[in-house]
Amino acid sequence: MKKNLLLLLALLCLMPFSAMGQSRRTVITNGVLWKDTAGNVVQAHGAGFLYQNGLWYMIGEDRGDSWRPDVNMYSSPDLVHWTFVGKIIKNGETTPDLGQRRFIERPKLLYCAKTGQYVVWCHWEGRNYGASEAAVFVSEQVGGPYRLHHAGRPLDIKSRDCNVFQDADGQAYFISTIEENQHLGLFRLSDDYTEALSCNILFAHQSREAPAIARVGDTYYMLSSACTGWDPNQCKLSCSKSLTEGWSPLVNVGDSICYDTQAASILTINGSKQTTYLYVGDRWMDPGLPESKTIIFPVTFGDGKCELHYAERFEIDFETGEWKILD
Ligand code: GAL
Repeated sequence: MKKNLLLLLALLCLMPFSAMGQSRRTVITNGVLWKDTAGNVVQAHGAGFLYQNGLWYMIGEDRGDSWRPDVNMYSSPDLVHWTFVGKIIKNGETTPDLGQRRFIERPKLLYCAKTGQYVVWCHWEGRNYGASEAAVFVSEQVGGPYRLHHAGRPLDIKSRDCNVFQDADGQAYFISTIEENQHLGLFRLSDDYTEALSCNILFAHQSREAPAIARVGDTYYMLSSACTGWDPNQCKLSCSKSLTEGWSPLVNVGDSICYDTQAASILTINGSKQTTYLYVGDRWMDPGLPESKTIIFPVTFGDGKCELHYAERFEIDFETGEWKILD
């Protein structure tokens, strides 16, 4: 009997928190500079995310040297405690052009189950944003080293602000602001996620950028901004049952400057009690490019509508998915 009790105690100690149904509550505070676990300022702007094995991997622009951004990677179990994984793409090293004639914006990370490769898509730019290209980097390990797969205009289409979206069936897409900021282009990717195969034009002549997509049931919700450089503007929502067509007319969401942010990503937290979506955006130039803040808050979607729950502080339970705004 005593032996059984000891065995049970030992098992309980070995169990992960989630298996015990315990909460994993975290308070997220907005508007402050994030520090990593080594005490350094987190530099990962225009961030892209990948959730794997209980960790969030975040990659983004290192604006420490404003106009020559490397790409940094961090990992965290709770979006608050960030461990620096490394510079996964380095100026002057990963490719000779990078940091010389070229710079990277909005790097986004995908994992391709079919090839076992990690794939980075990003905006690959030159002087005065004239190049209007994208670049693709690949690695066998999440933390790199990443190597350039190719760079150029996807399907010869001028492409700037960008994001990626991986659908439930594994099909991945690159979505970017195309043809001198006129339209959004939704590029269907090859099975290995490295090539653009086709392009659907969305929101023609409506000049949208910073697109971020979430799938809720059988509906896709897209948030996007207007093109006003580093200045924030009105975030708008559209939804559709299909990624390639049928997007509803854009409607305003949040306040007129989206709480001084521009969208970078939408995260999905699959909790035991609810699925929660978190908006991640950049508060650019706060006051300079290197001090731009990453802002996170809950967003709810349903019935073709969405509500942005901006708060300076909120608490989220990563086990259950429940959240509440704090005073
Ligand atoms: C914004 C864009 C950023 C960056 C900036 C440069 O519109 O979202 O990623 O390109 O312009 O002015």
